[in-house]
Amino acid sequence: MFLGKLFNADFQHTTERSCSLSASYFIVWLSVSGLLQMSVLVANDDGWLLDACSLIDEGFKCCLGVNNGHFRCHFKKQNFDILKPHIVLKCTSDASSNAVQNTETHTTEDARVNPKTRKKRKRQSSDLNQGELDAAVYHEKVRLLVLEGSQSLLEAGHHCGYFTDAIHPVSTSQTPAVECQLAALCDMAKQFLTEEAADTPKQVVKGHADLDAHLNLFSCLTGNPDAHAREVTLIGERYFLPPRSRFLLSDITRLQPLVTSGDKFDLIVLDPPWENKSVKRSRRYRFLPSSQLKQLPVPELSTAGCVVVTWVTNRPRHLRFVKEELFPHWGVKVVAQWLWVKVTRTGEFVFPLDSPHKKPYEVLLLGRSCAGRENTTRCEAELPDRRLIVSIPSSLHSHKPSLSAVLKPYIRPDAKCLEMFARILQPDWTSWGNEVIKFQHHSYYISENAECACDTLTSEHRHETPSGHMTTSEPNYS
Ligand SMILES: C[S@@+](CC[C@H](N)C(=O)[O-])C[C@H]1O[C@@H](n2cnc3c(N)ncnc32)[C@H](O)[C@@H]1O
Repeated sequence: MFLGKLFNADFQHTTERSCSLSASYFIVWLSVSGLLQMSVLVANDDGWLLDACSLIDEGFKCCLGVNNGHFRCHFKKQNFDILKPHIVLKCTSDASSNAVQNTETHTTEDARVNPKTRKKRKRQSSDLNQGELDAAVYHEKVRLLVLEGSQSLLEAGHHCGYFTDAIHPVSTSQTPAVECQLAALCDMAKQFLTEEAADTPKQVVKGHADLDAHLNLFSCLTGNPDAHAREVTLIGERYFLPPRSRFLLSDITRLQPLVTSGDKFDLIVLDPPWENKSVKRSRRYRFLPSSQLKQLPVPELSTAGCVVVTWVTNRPRHLRFVKEELFPHWGVKVVAQWLWVKVTRTGEFVFPLDSPHKKPYEVLLLGRSCAGRENTTRCEAELPDRRLIVSIPSSLHSHKPSLSAVLKPYIRPDAKCLEMFARILQPDWTSWGNEVIKFQHHSYYISENAECACDTLTSEHRHETPSGHMTTSEPNYS
């Protein structure tokens, strides 16, 4: 049961923050004592404080290596070492007018990426284009929610010692200098594969014999059906696949194997490559026009009453498109709007809340598929509106926190979940995208010699080793 609900009476629009806080502390205690998932540190009626890094690690308590040794691994914590806000407000006084001015100073790589922004003349509100004016209106609507809602979550996080300026030890190995060009490989595969479904749309990775040569990653759903993570070699590189995870590595025009697999999903999360200046400038990935997003086979992949969640940039134009065109086109009714609030490891917003350049939050639009719903009785809780997910973002461009823990109360226990435009896999989820295994590459992880939770290993796997024993020798990839 979702524990936050227990405290509804206390939280309901009360101005007595102490009341709300004591409930939050109780939830922190539950979390620390293992009664809640460790990744949800606080849950209250404002939203959730989430530890996105430990959420990834939950899938890697036991990993079976290519040599059948088993080990535990962790996503590199330095990816979440956001110690200072990217921009800070600096107060300067103007001696001639005795006035105090707030100017923005870049503290991190933002300044290196775009040094010009520092020199920009302060723009007058009359200089703003329509998109920027709309964004300012939207910001006025949500700023109080962000400010007040995040307060109780941040206070609870401070109280339990989650926010700290201690630096994680930096691993000697860095993330790959030359990233494997998964999207380019998908483009190449596109030339050779027809749009029709593959003959065998599903395949599993099982045992170290099933490597590279046997797997068709671009036109089949590939899965690790085991209860433990697995290290595999794919396209000549080592990857870690979480337990019971499946993926399709393909371009949007080659989604057919997913559709013909016949699977229907109760939860679909999408993070489309929206067109925006920073993506264009950095050329990190290509964006997709809205017309192409409408072609996604979301209705074919949804169960009646499926929860559909879309990440949207802070551009009101995109938000309007999802609300007024995309969701209606898919037969999805908008039911809630949440915000992801990004904070540093010391609990400050990553950008000043009122910065004209970048905001410390991003939008999530949640809907339910209406098709066939009238004939079904569903027992999941209604999705609440205006909630915040507060977390430390990763420094990897555009990397979002997993929503699996916060959405659990709103879907049935055995729900099938799909992430579209994913770059990471999740235990029990199906994921698709043209970079879908990017953050499963071994270089994003540290493997550990420590005893791992391999009670889940079946006797079948224990017999896989040539000697008939589980090996305990650990591969050290980091
Ligand atoms: C906003 S990013 C997703 C980020 C992801 N949610 C994360 O947390 O790391 C969008 C993704 O869509 C992928 N993409 C862009 N064009 C695509 C296409 N034509 N087909 C499939 N995926 C595409 C990009 O390569 C990128 O990985």
